[in-house]
Amino acid sequence: MNILAIESSCDETSAAVLANGHMLSNVIATQLIHEKYGGVVPELASRAHQQHILPVVERALADANLPKNALSAIAFTRGPGLLGSLLVGASFAKALALGLNIPLIEVNHMQAHVLAHFIEAPRPAFPFLCLTVSGGHTQLVRVDSPLTMTIIGQTMDDAVGEAFDKSAKLLGLPYPGGPLIDKYAKEGNPLAFKFPMGEMPNLDFSFSGIKTAILYFLRDNKKVNPDFVDQNLPDICASIQHTLIQMLLTKLKRAARETGIRDIAIAGGVSANSGLRTALTQLGTAQGWNVYIPSFDYCTDNAAMIAMAAQFKYEQGDFADQTISPLPRMSF
Ligand code: KG4
Ligand code: ZN
Repeated sequence: MNILAIESSCDETSAAVLANGHMLSNVIATQLIHEKYGGVVPELASRAHQQHILPVVERALADANLPKNALSAIAFTRGPGLLGSLLVGASFAKALALGLNIPLIEVNHMQAHVLAHFIEAPRPAFPFLCLTVSGGHTQLVRVDSPLTMTIIGQTMDDAVGEAFDKSAKLLGLPYPGGPLIDKYAKEGNPLAFKFPMGEMPNLDFSFSGIKTAILYFLRDNKKVNPDFVDQNLPDICASIQHTLIQMLLTKLKRAARETGIRDIAIAGGVSANSGLRTALTQLGTAQGWNVYIPSFDYCTDNAAMIAMAAQFKYEQGDFADQTISPLPRMSF
């Protein structure tokens, strides 16, 4: 079984080939144009996907050393994501599946982030909990089987990736700021400054309060010392990152306690954060959990995870037809 998968939900154009359980290629073209605007501009993202998609797919097939007519199915991200971006991947996948007369498979991007854990060992045992943390979502997911997932907690406002990126913007750092906060935090003291964690009932999250707290914190300190940010950047980044990680792990601990599940995974772009990876590993040891952390290639958006999810759907004969359209606010 040879699956070609396409991911185009946001600002990464990606294609991957999964052949009989082996990921033969995973090509990702990152759109740098958005850096100039401090965030993703949907119309520009859509146009960049149109430019990138053909070379990216051709490269994925070449890297896999597989001709088009050896493919068994074409998979694509149906949602959630930006409509214009999703349309490019969906249209391309539909046309290719039609032209090759092979099945089409639609994939939920958030489920795919979770299923990235099945690309390589160690694979989590069912049931497990996955904290999916990206630029658009923050979800606590109970995973009972590859395609049976329940969201048991989620953010009521901003995603944690957004909180990283918006904090970075307030500090004058370029987009996407999450990886830069991670970088500067390594040199700083996580307890130098204190930010409010906010209180949400049950297993839900809220990240809009900390954003406002950082805004006022910076404004007040810059009034006293205009060079405050330059002089304290590592300590500020470490303190922001520490607060966000504590907010995530507090809920994860509660979810594990309430469900009794001890197999714990993280997924999504923010799972690339070195502070979160270390803190979760330590917490897992203390709690006696089996912890699963994806390798860096499979944290941020990629088509390999779409191919992995598609393989599970292929095995169940779960195919889409040519009338299918993207769902920007798709859930599961
Ligand atoms: O999963 P992803 O690639 O795209 C979405 O589906 O949203 O996640 C992107 C998010 C961005 O907010 C980015 O800043 C964040 O992941 N991110 C990080 C790190 N690497 C990526 N945040 C904190 N630390 C990192 N090392
Ligand atoms: Zn994503």
